Amino acid sequence: MAVAFEQGVRGSGIALDVESVSHRYGVEGRSLAVVDDVTLSLAPGEFVALLGPSGCGKSTLLRLAAGLESPSAGAVREDGRVIAGPNPDRILVFQDATLFPWRTVRGNVATGLEARGLLREKHDRIDEVLKLVKLEAFADFYPHQLSGGMAQRAALARALVNDPKLLLLDEPFGKLDSLTRLRMQNELLDLWTNVGFTALLVTHDVEEALLLADRVIVLSDRPARIVAQVSVAAPHPRRRDDPALIALRADLLATLGISHDV
Ligand SMILES: Nc1ncnc2c1ncn2[C@@H]1O[C@H](COP(=O)(O)OP(=O)(O)OP(=O)(O)O)[C@@H](O)[C@H]1O
Ligand SMILES: [Mg+2]
Repeated sequence: MAVAFEQGVRGSGIALDVESVSHRYGVEGRSLAVVDDVTLSLAPGEFVALLGPSGCGKSTLLRLAAGLESPSAGAVREDGRVIAGPNPDRILVFQDATLFPWRTVRGNVATGLEARGLLREKHDRIDEVLKLVKLEAFADFYPHQLSGGMAQRAALARALVNDPKLLLLDEPFGKLDSLTRLRMQNELLDLWTNVGFTALLVTHDVEEALLLADRVIVLSDRPARIVAQVSVAAPHPRRRDDPALIALRADLLATLGISHDV
């Protein structure tokens, strides 16, 4: 699929193809349909946002792309190869920062490199990513000494130290206050522009999706199906009061079944 997008480091990042994917979980002998025949392609370096009702299967789609689940039907591919399991090229950032409380910021960021035996070789990368997320002065702080936004930046640094080609973001700013959220959105955009990776963001926030993504995909109630897709052509930095974005916001809210004057 040819997709035009303005920024991101072109070509850096993987192509993600979700092909006719359905997924069911087994719960107490019953089978729960969670994803229903979803087909979706992300070009290398593209930023796509997923919107959908609570419980519809958004996190499950990210887990499938991360290789943490295998689809019940269909295939998920990176650069054409079937994803068979987790890989440090594809990193999932959770809604809660989930830092290890007994390790400092630096220690938390180091975990992925340690697990892969790359700490010695890539040690300098830790300082680079701490700088990228503006936490270099807080490297020796423990998680309980951080604000919510700083903890989320540490979680992003922990992902970025692996130089992911696909960043899967599961409502990464959902628990932050609105001002911190706005700042973090800009920081994420800077990282995407400067570092270069393919990004798939789950969010409940229509404005966040429109400010960040090249394309916004709306999912149905569980089991998740794609009900709408919109391309967001506006170049970055985008203005929240851009009339084109306001019109898209109204369309997306209507698709989600919400009147835009609420
Ligand atoms: N490991 C699991 N085993 C069984 N059922 C699961 C499992 N993970 C999720 N589910 C079920 O799958 C459905 C979709 O869950 P999922 O976490 O993907 O939704 P979501 O769209 O991310 O929701 P939210 O917006 O609330 O985060 C839910 O009904 C949930 O109960
Ligand atoms: Mg979820």
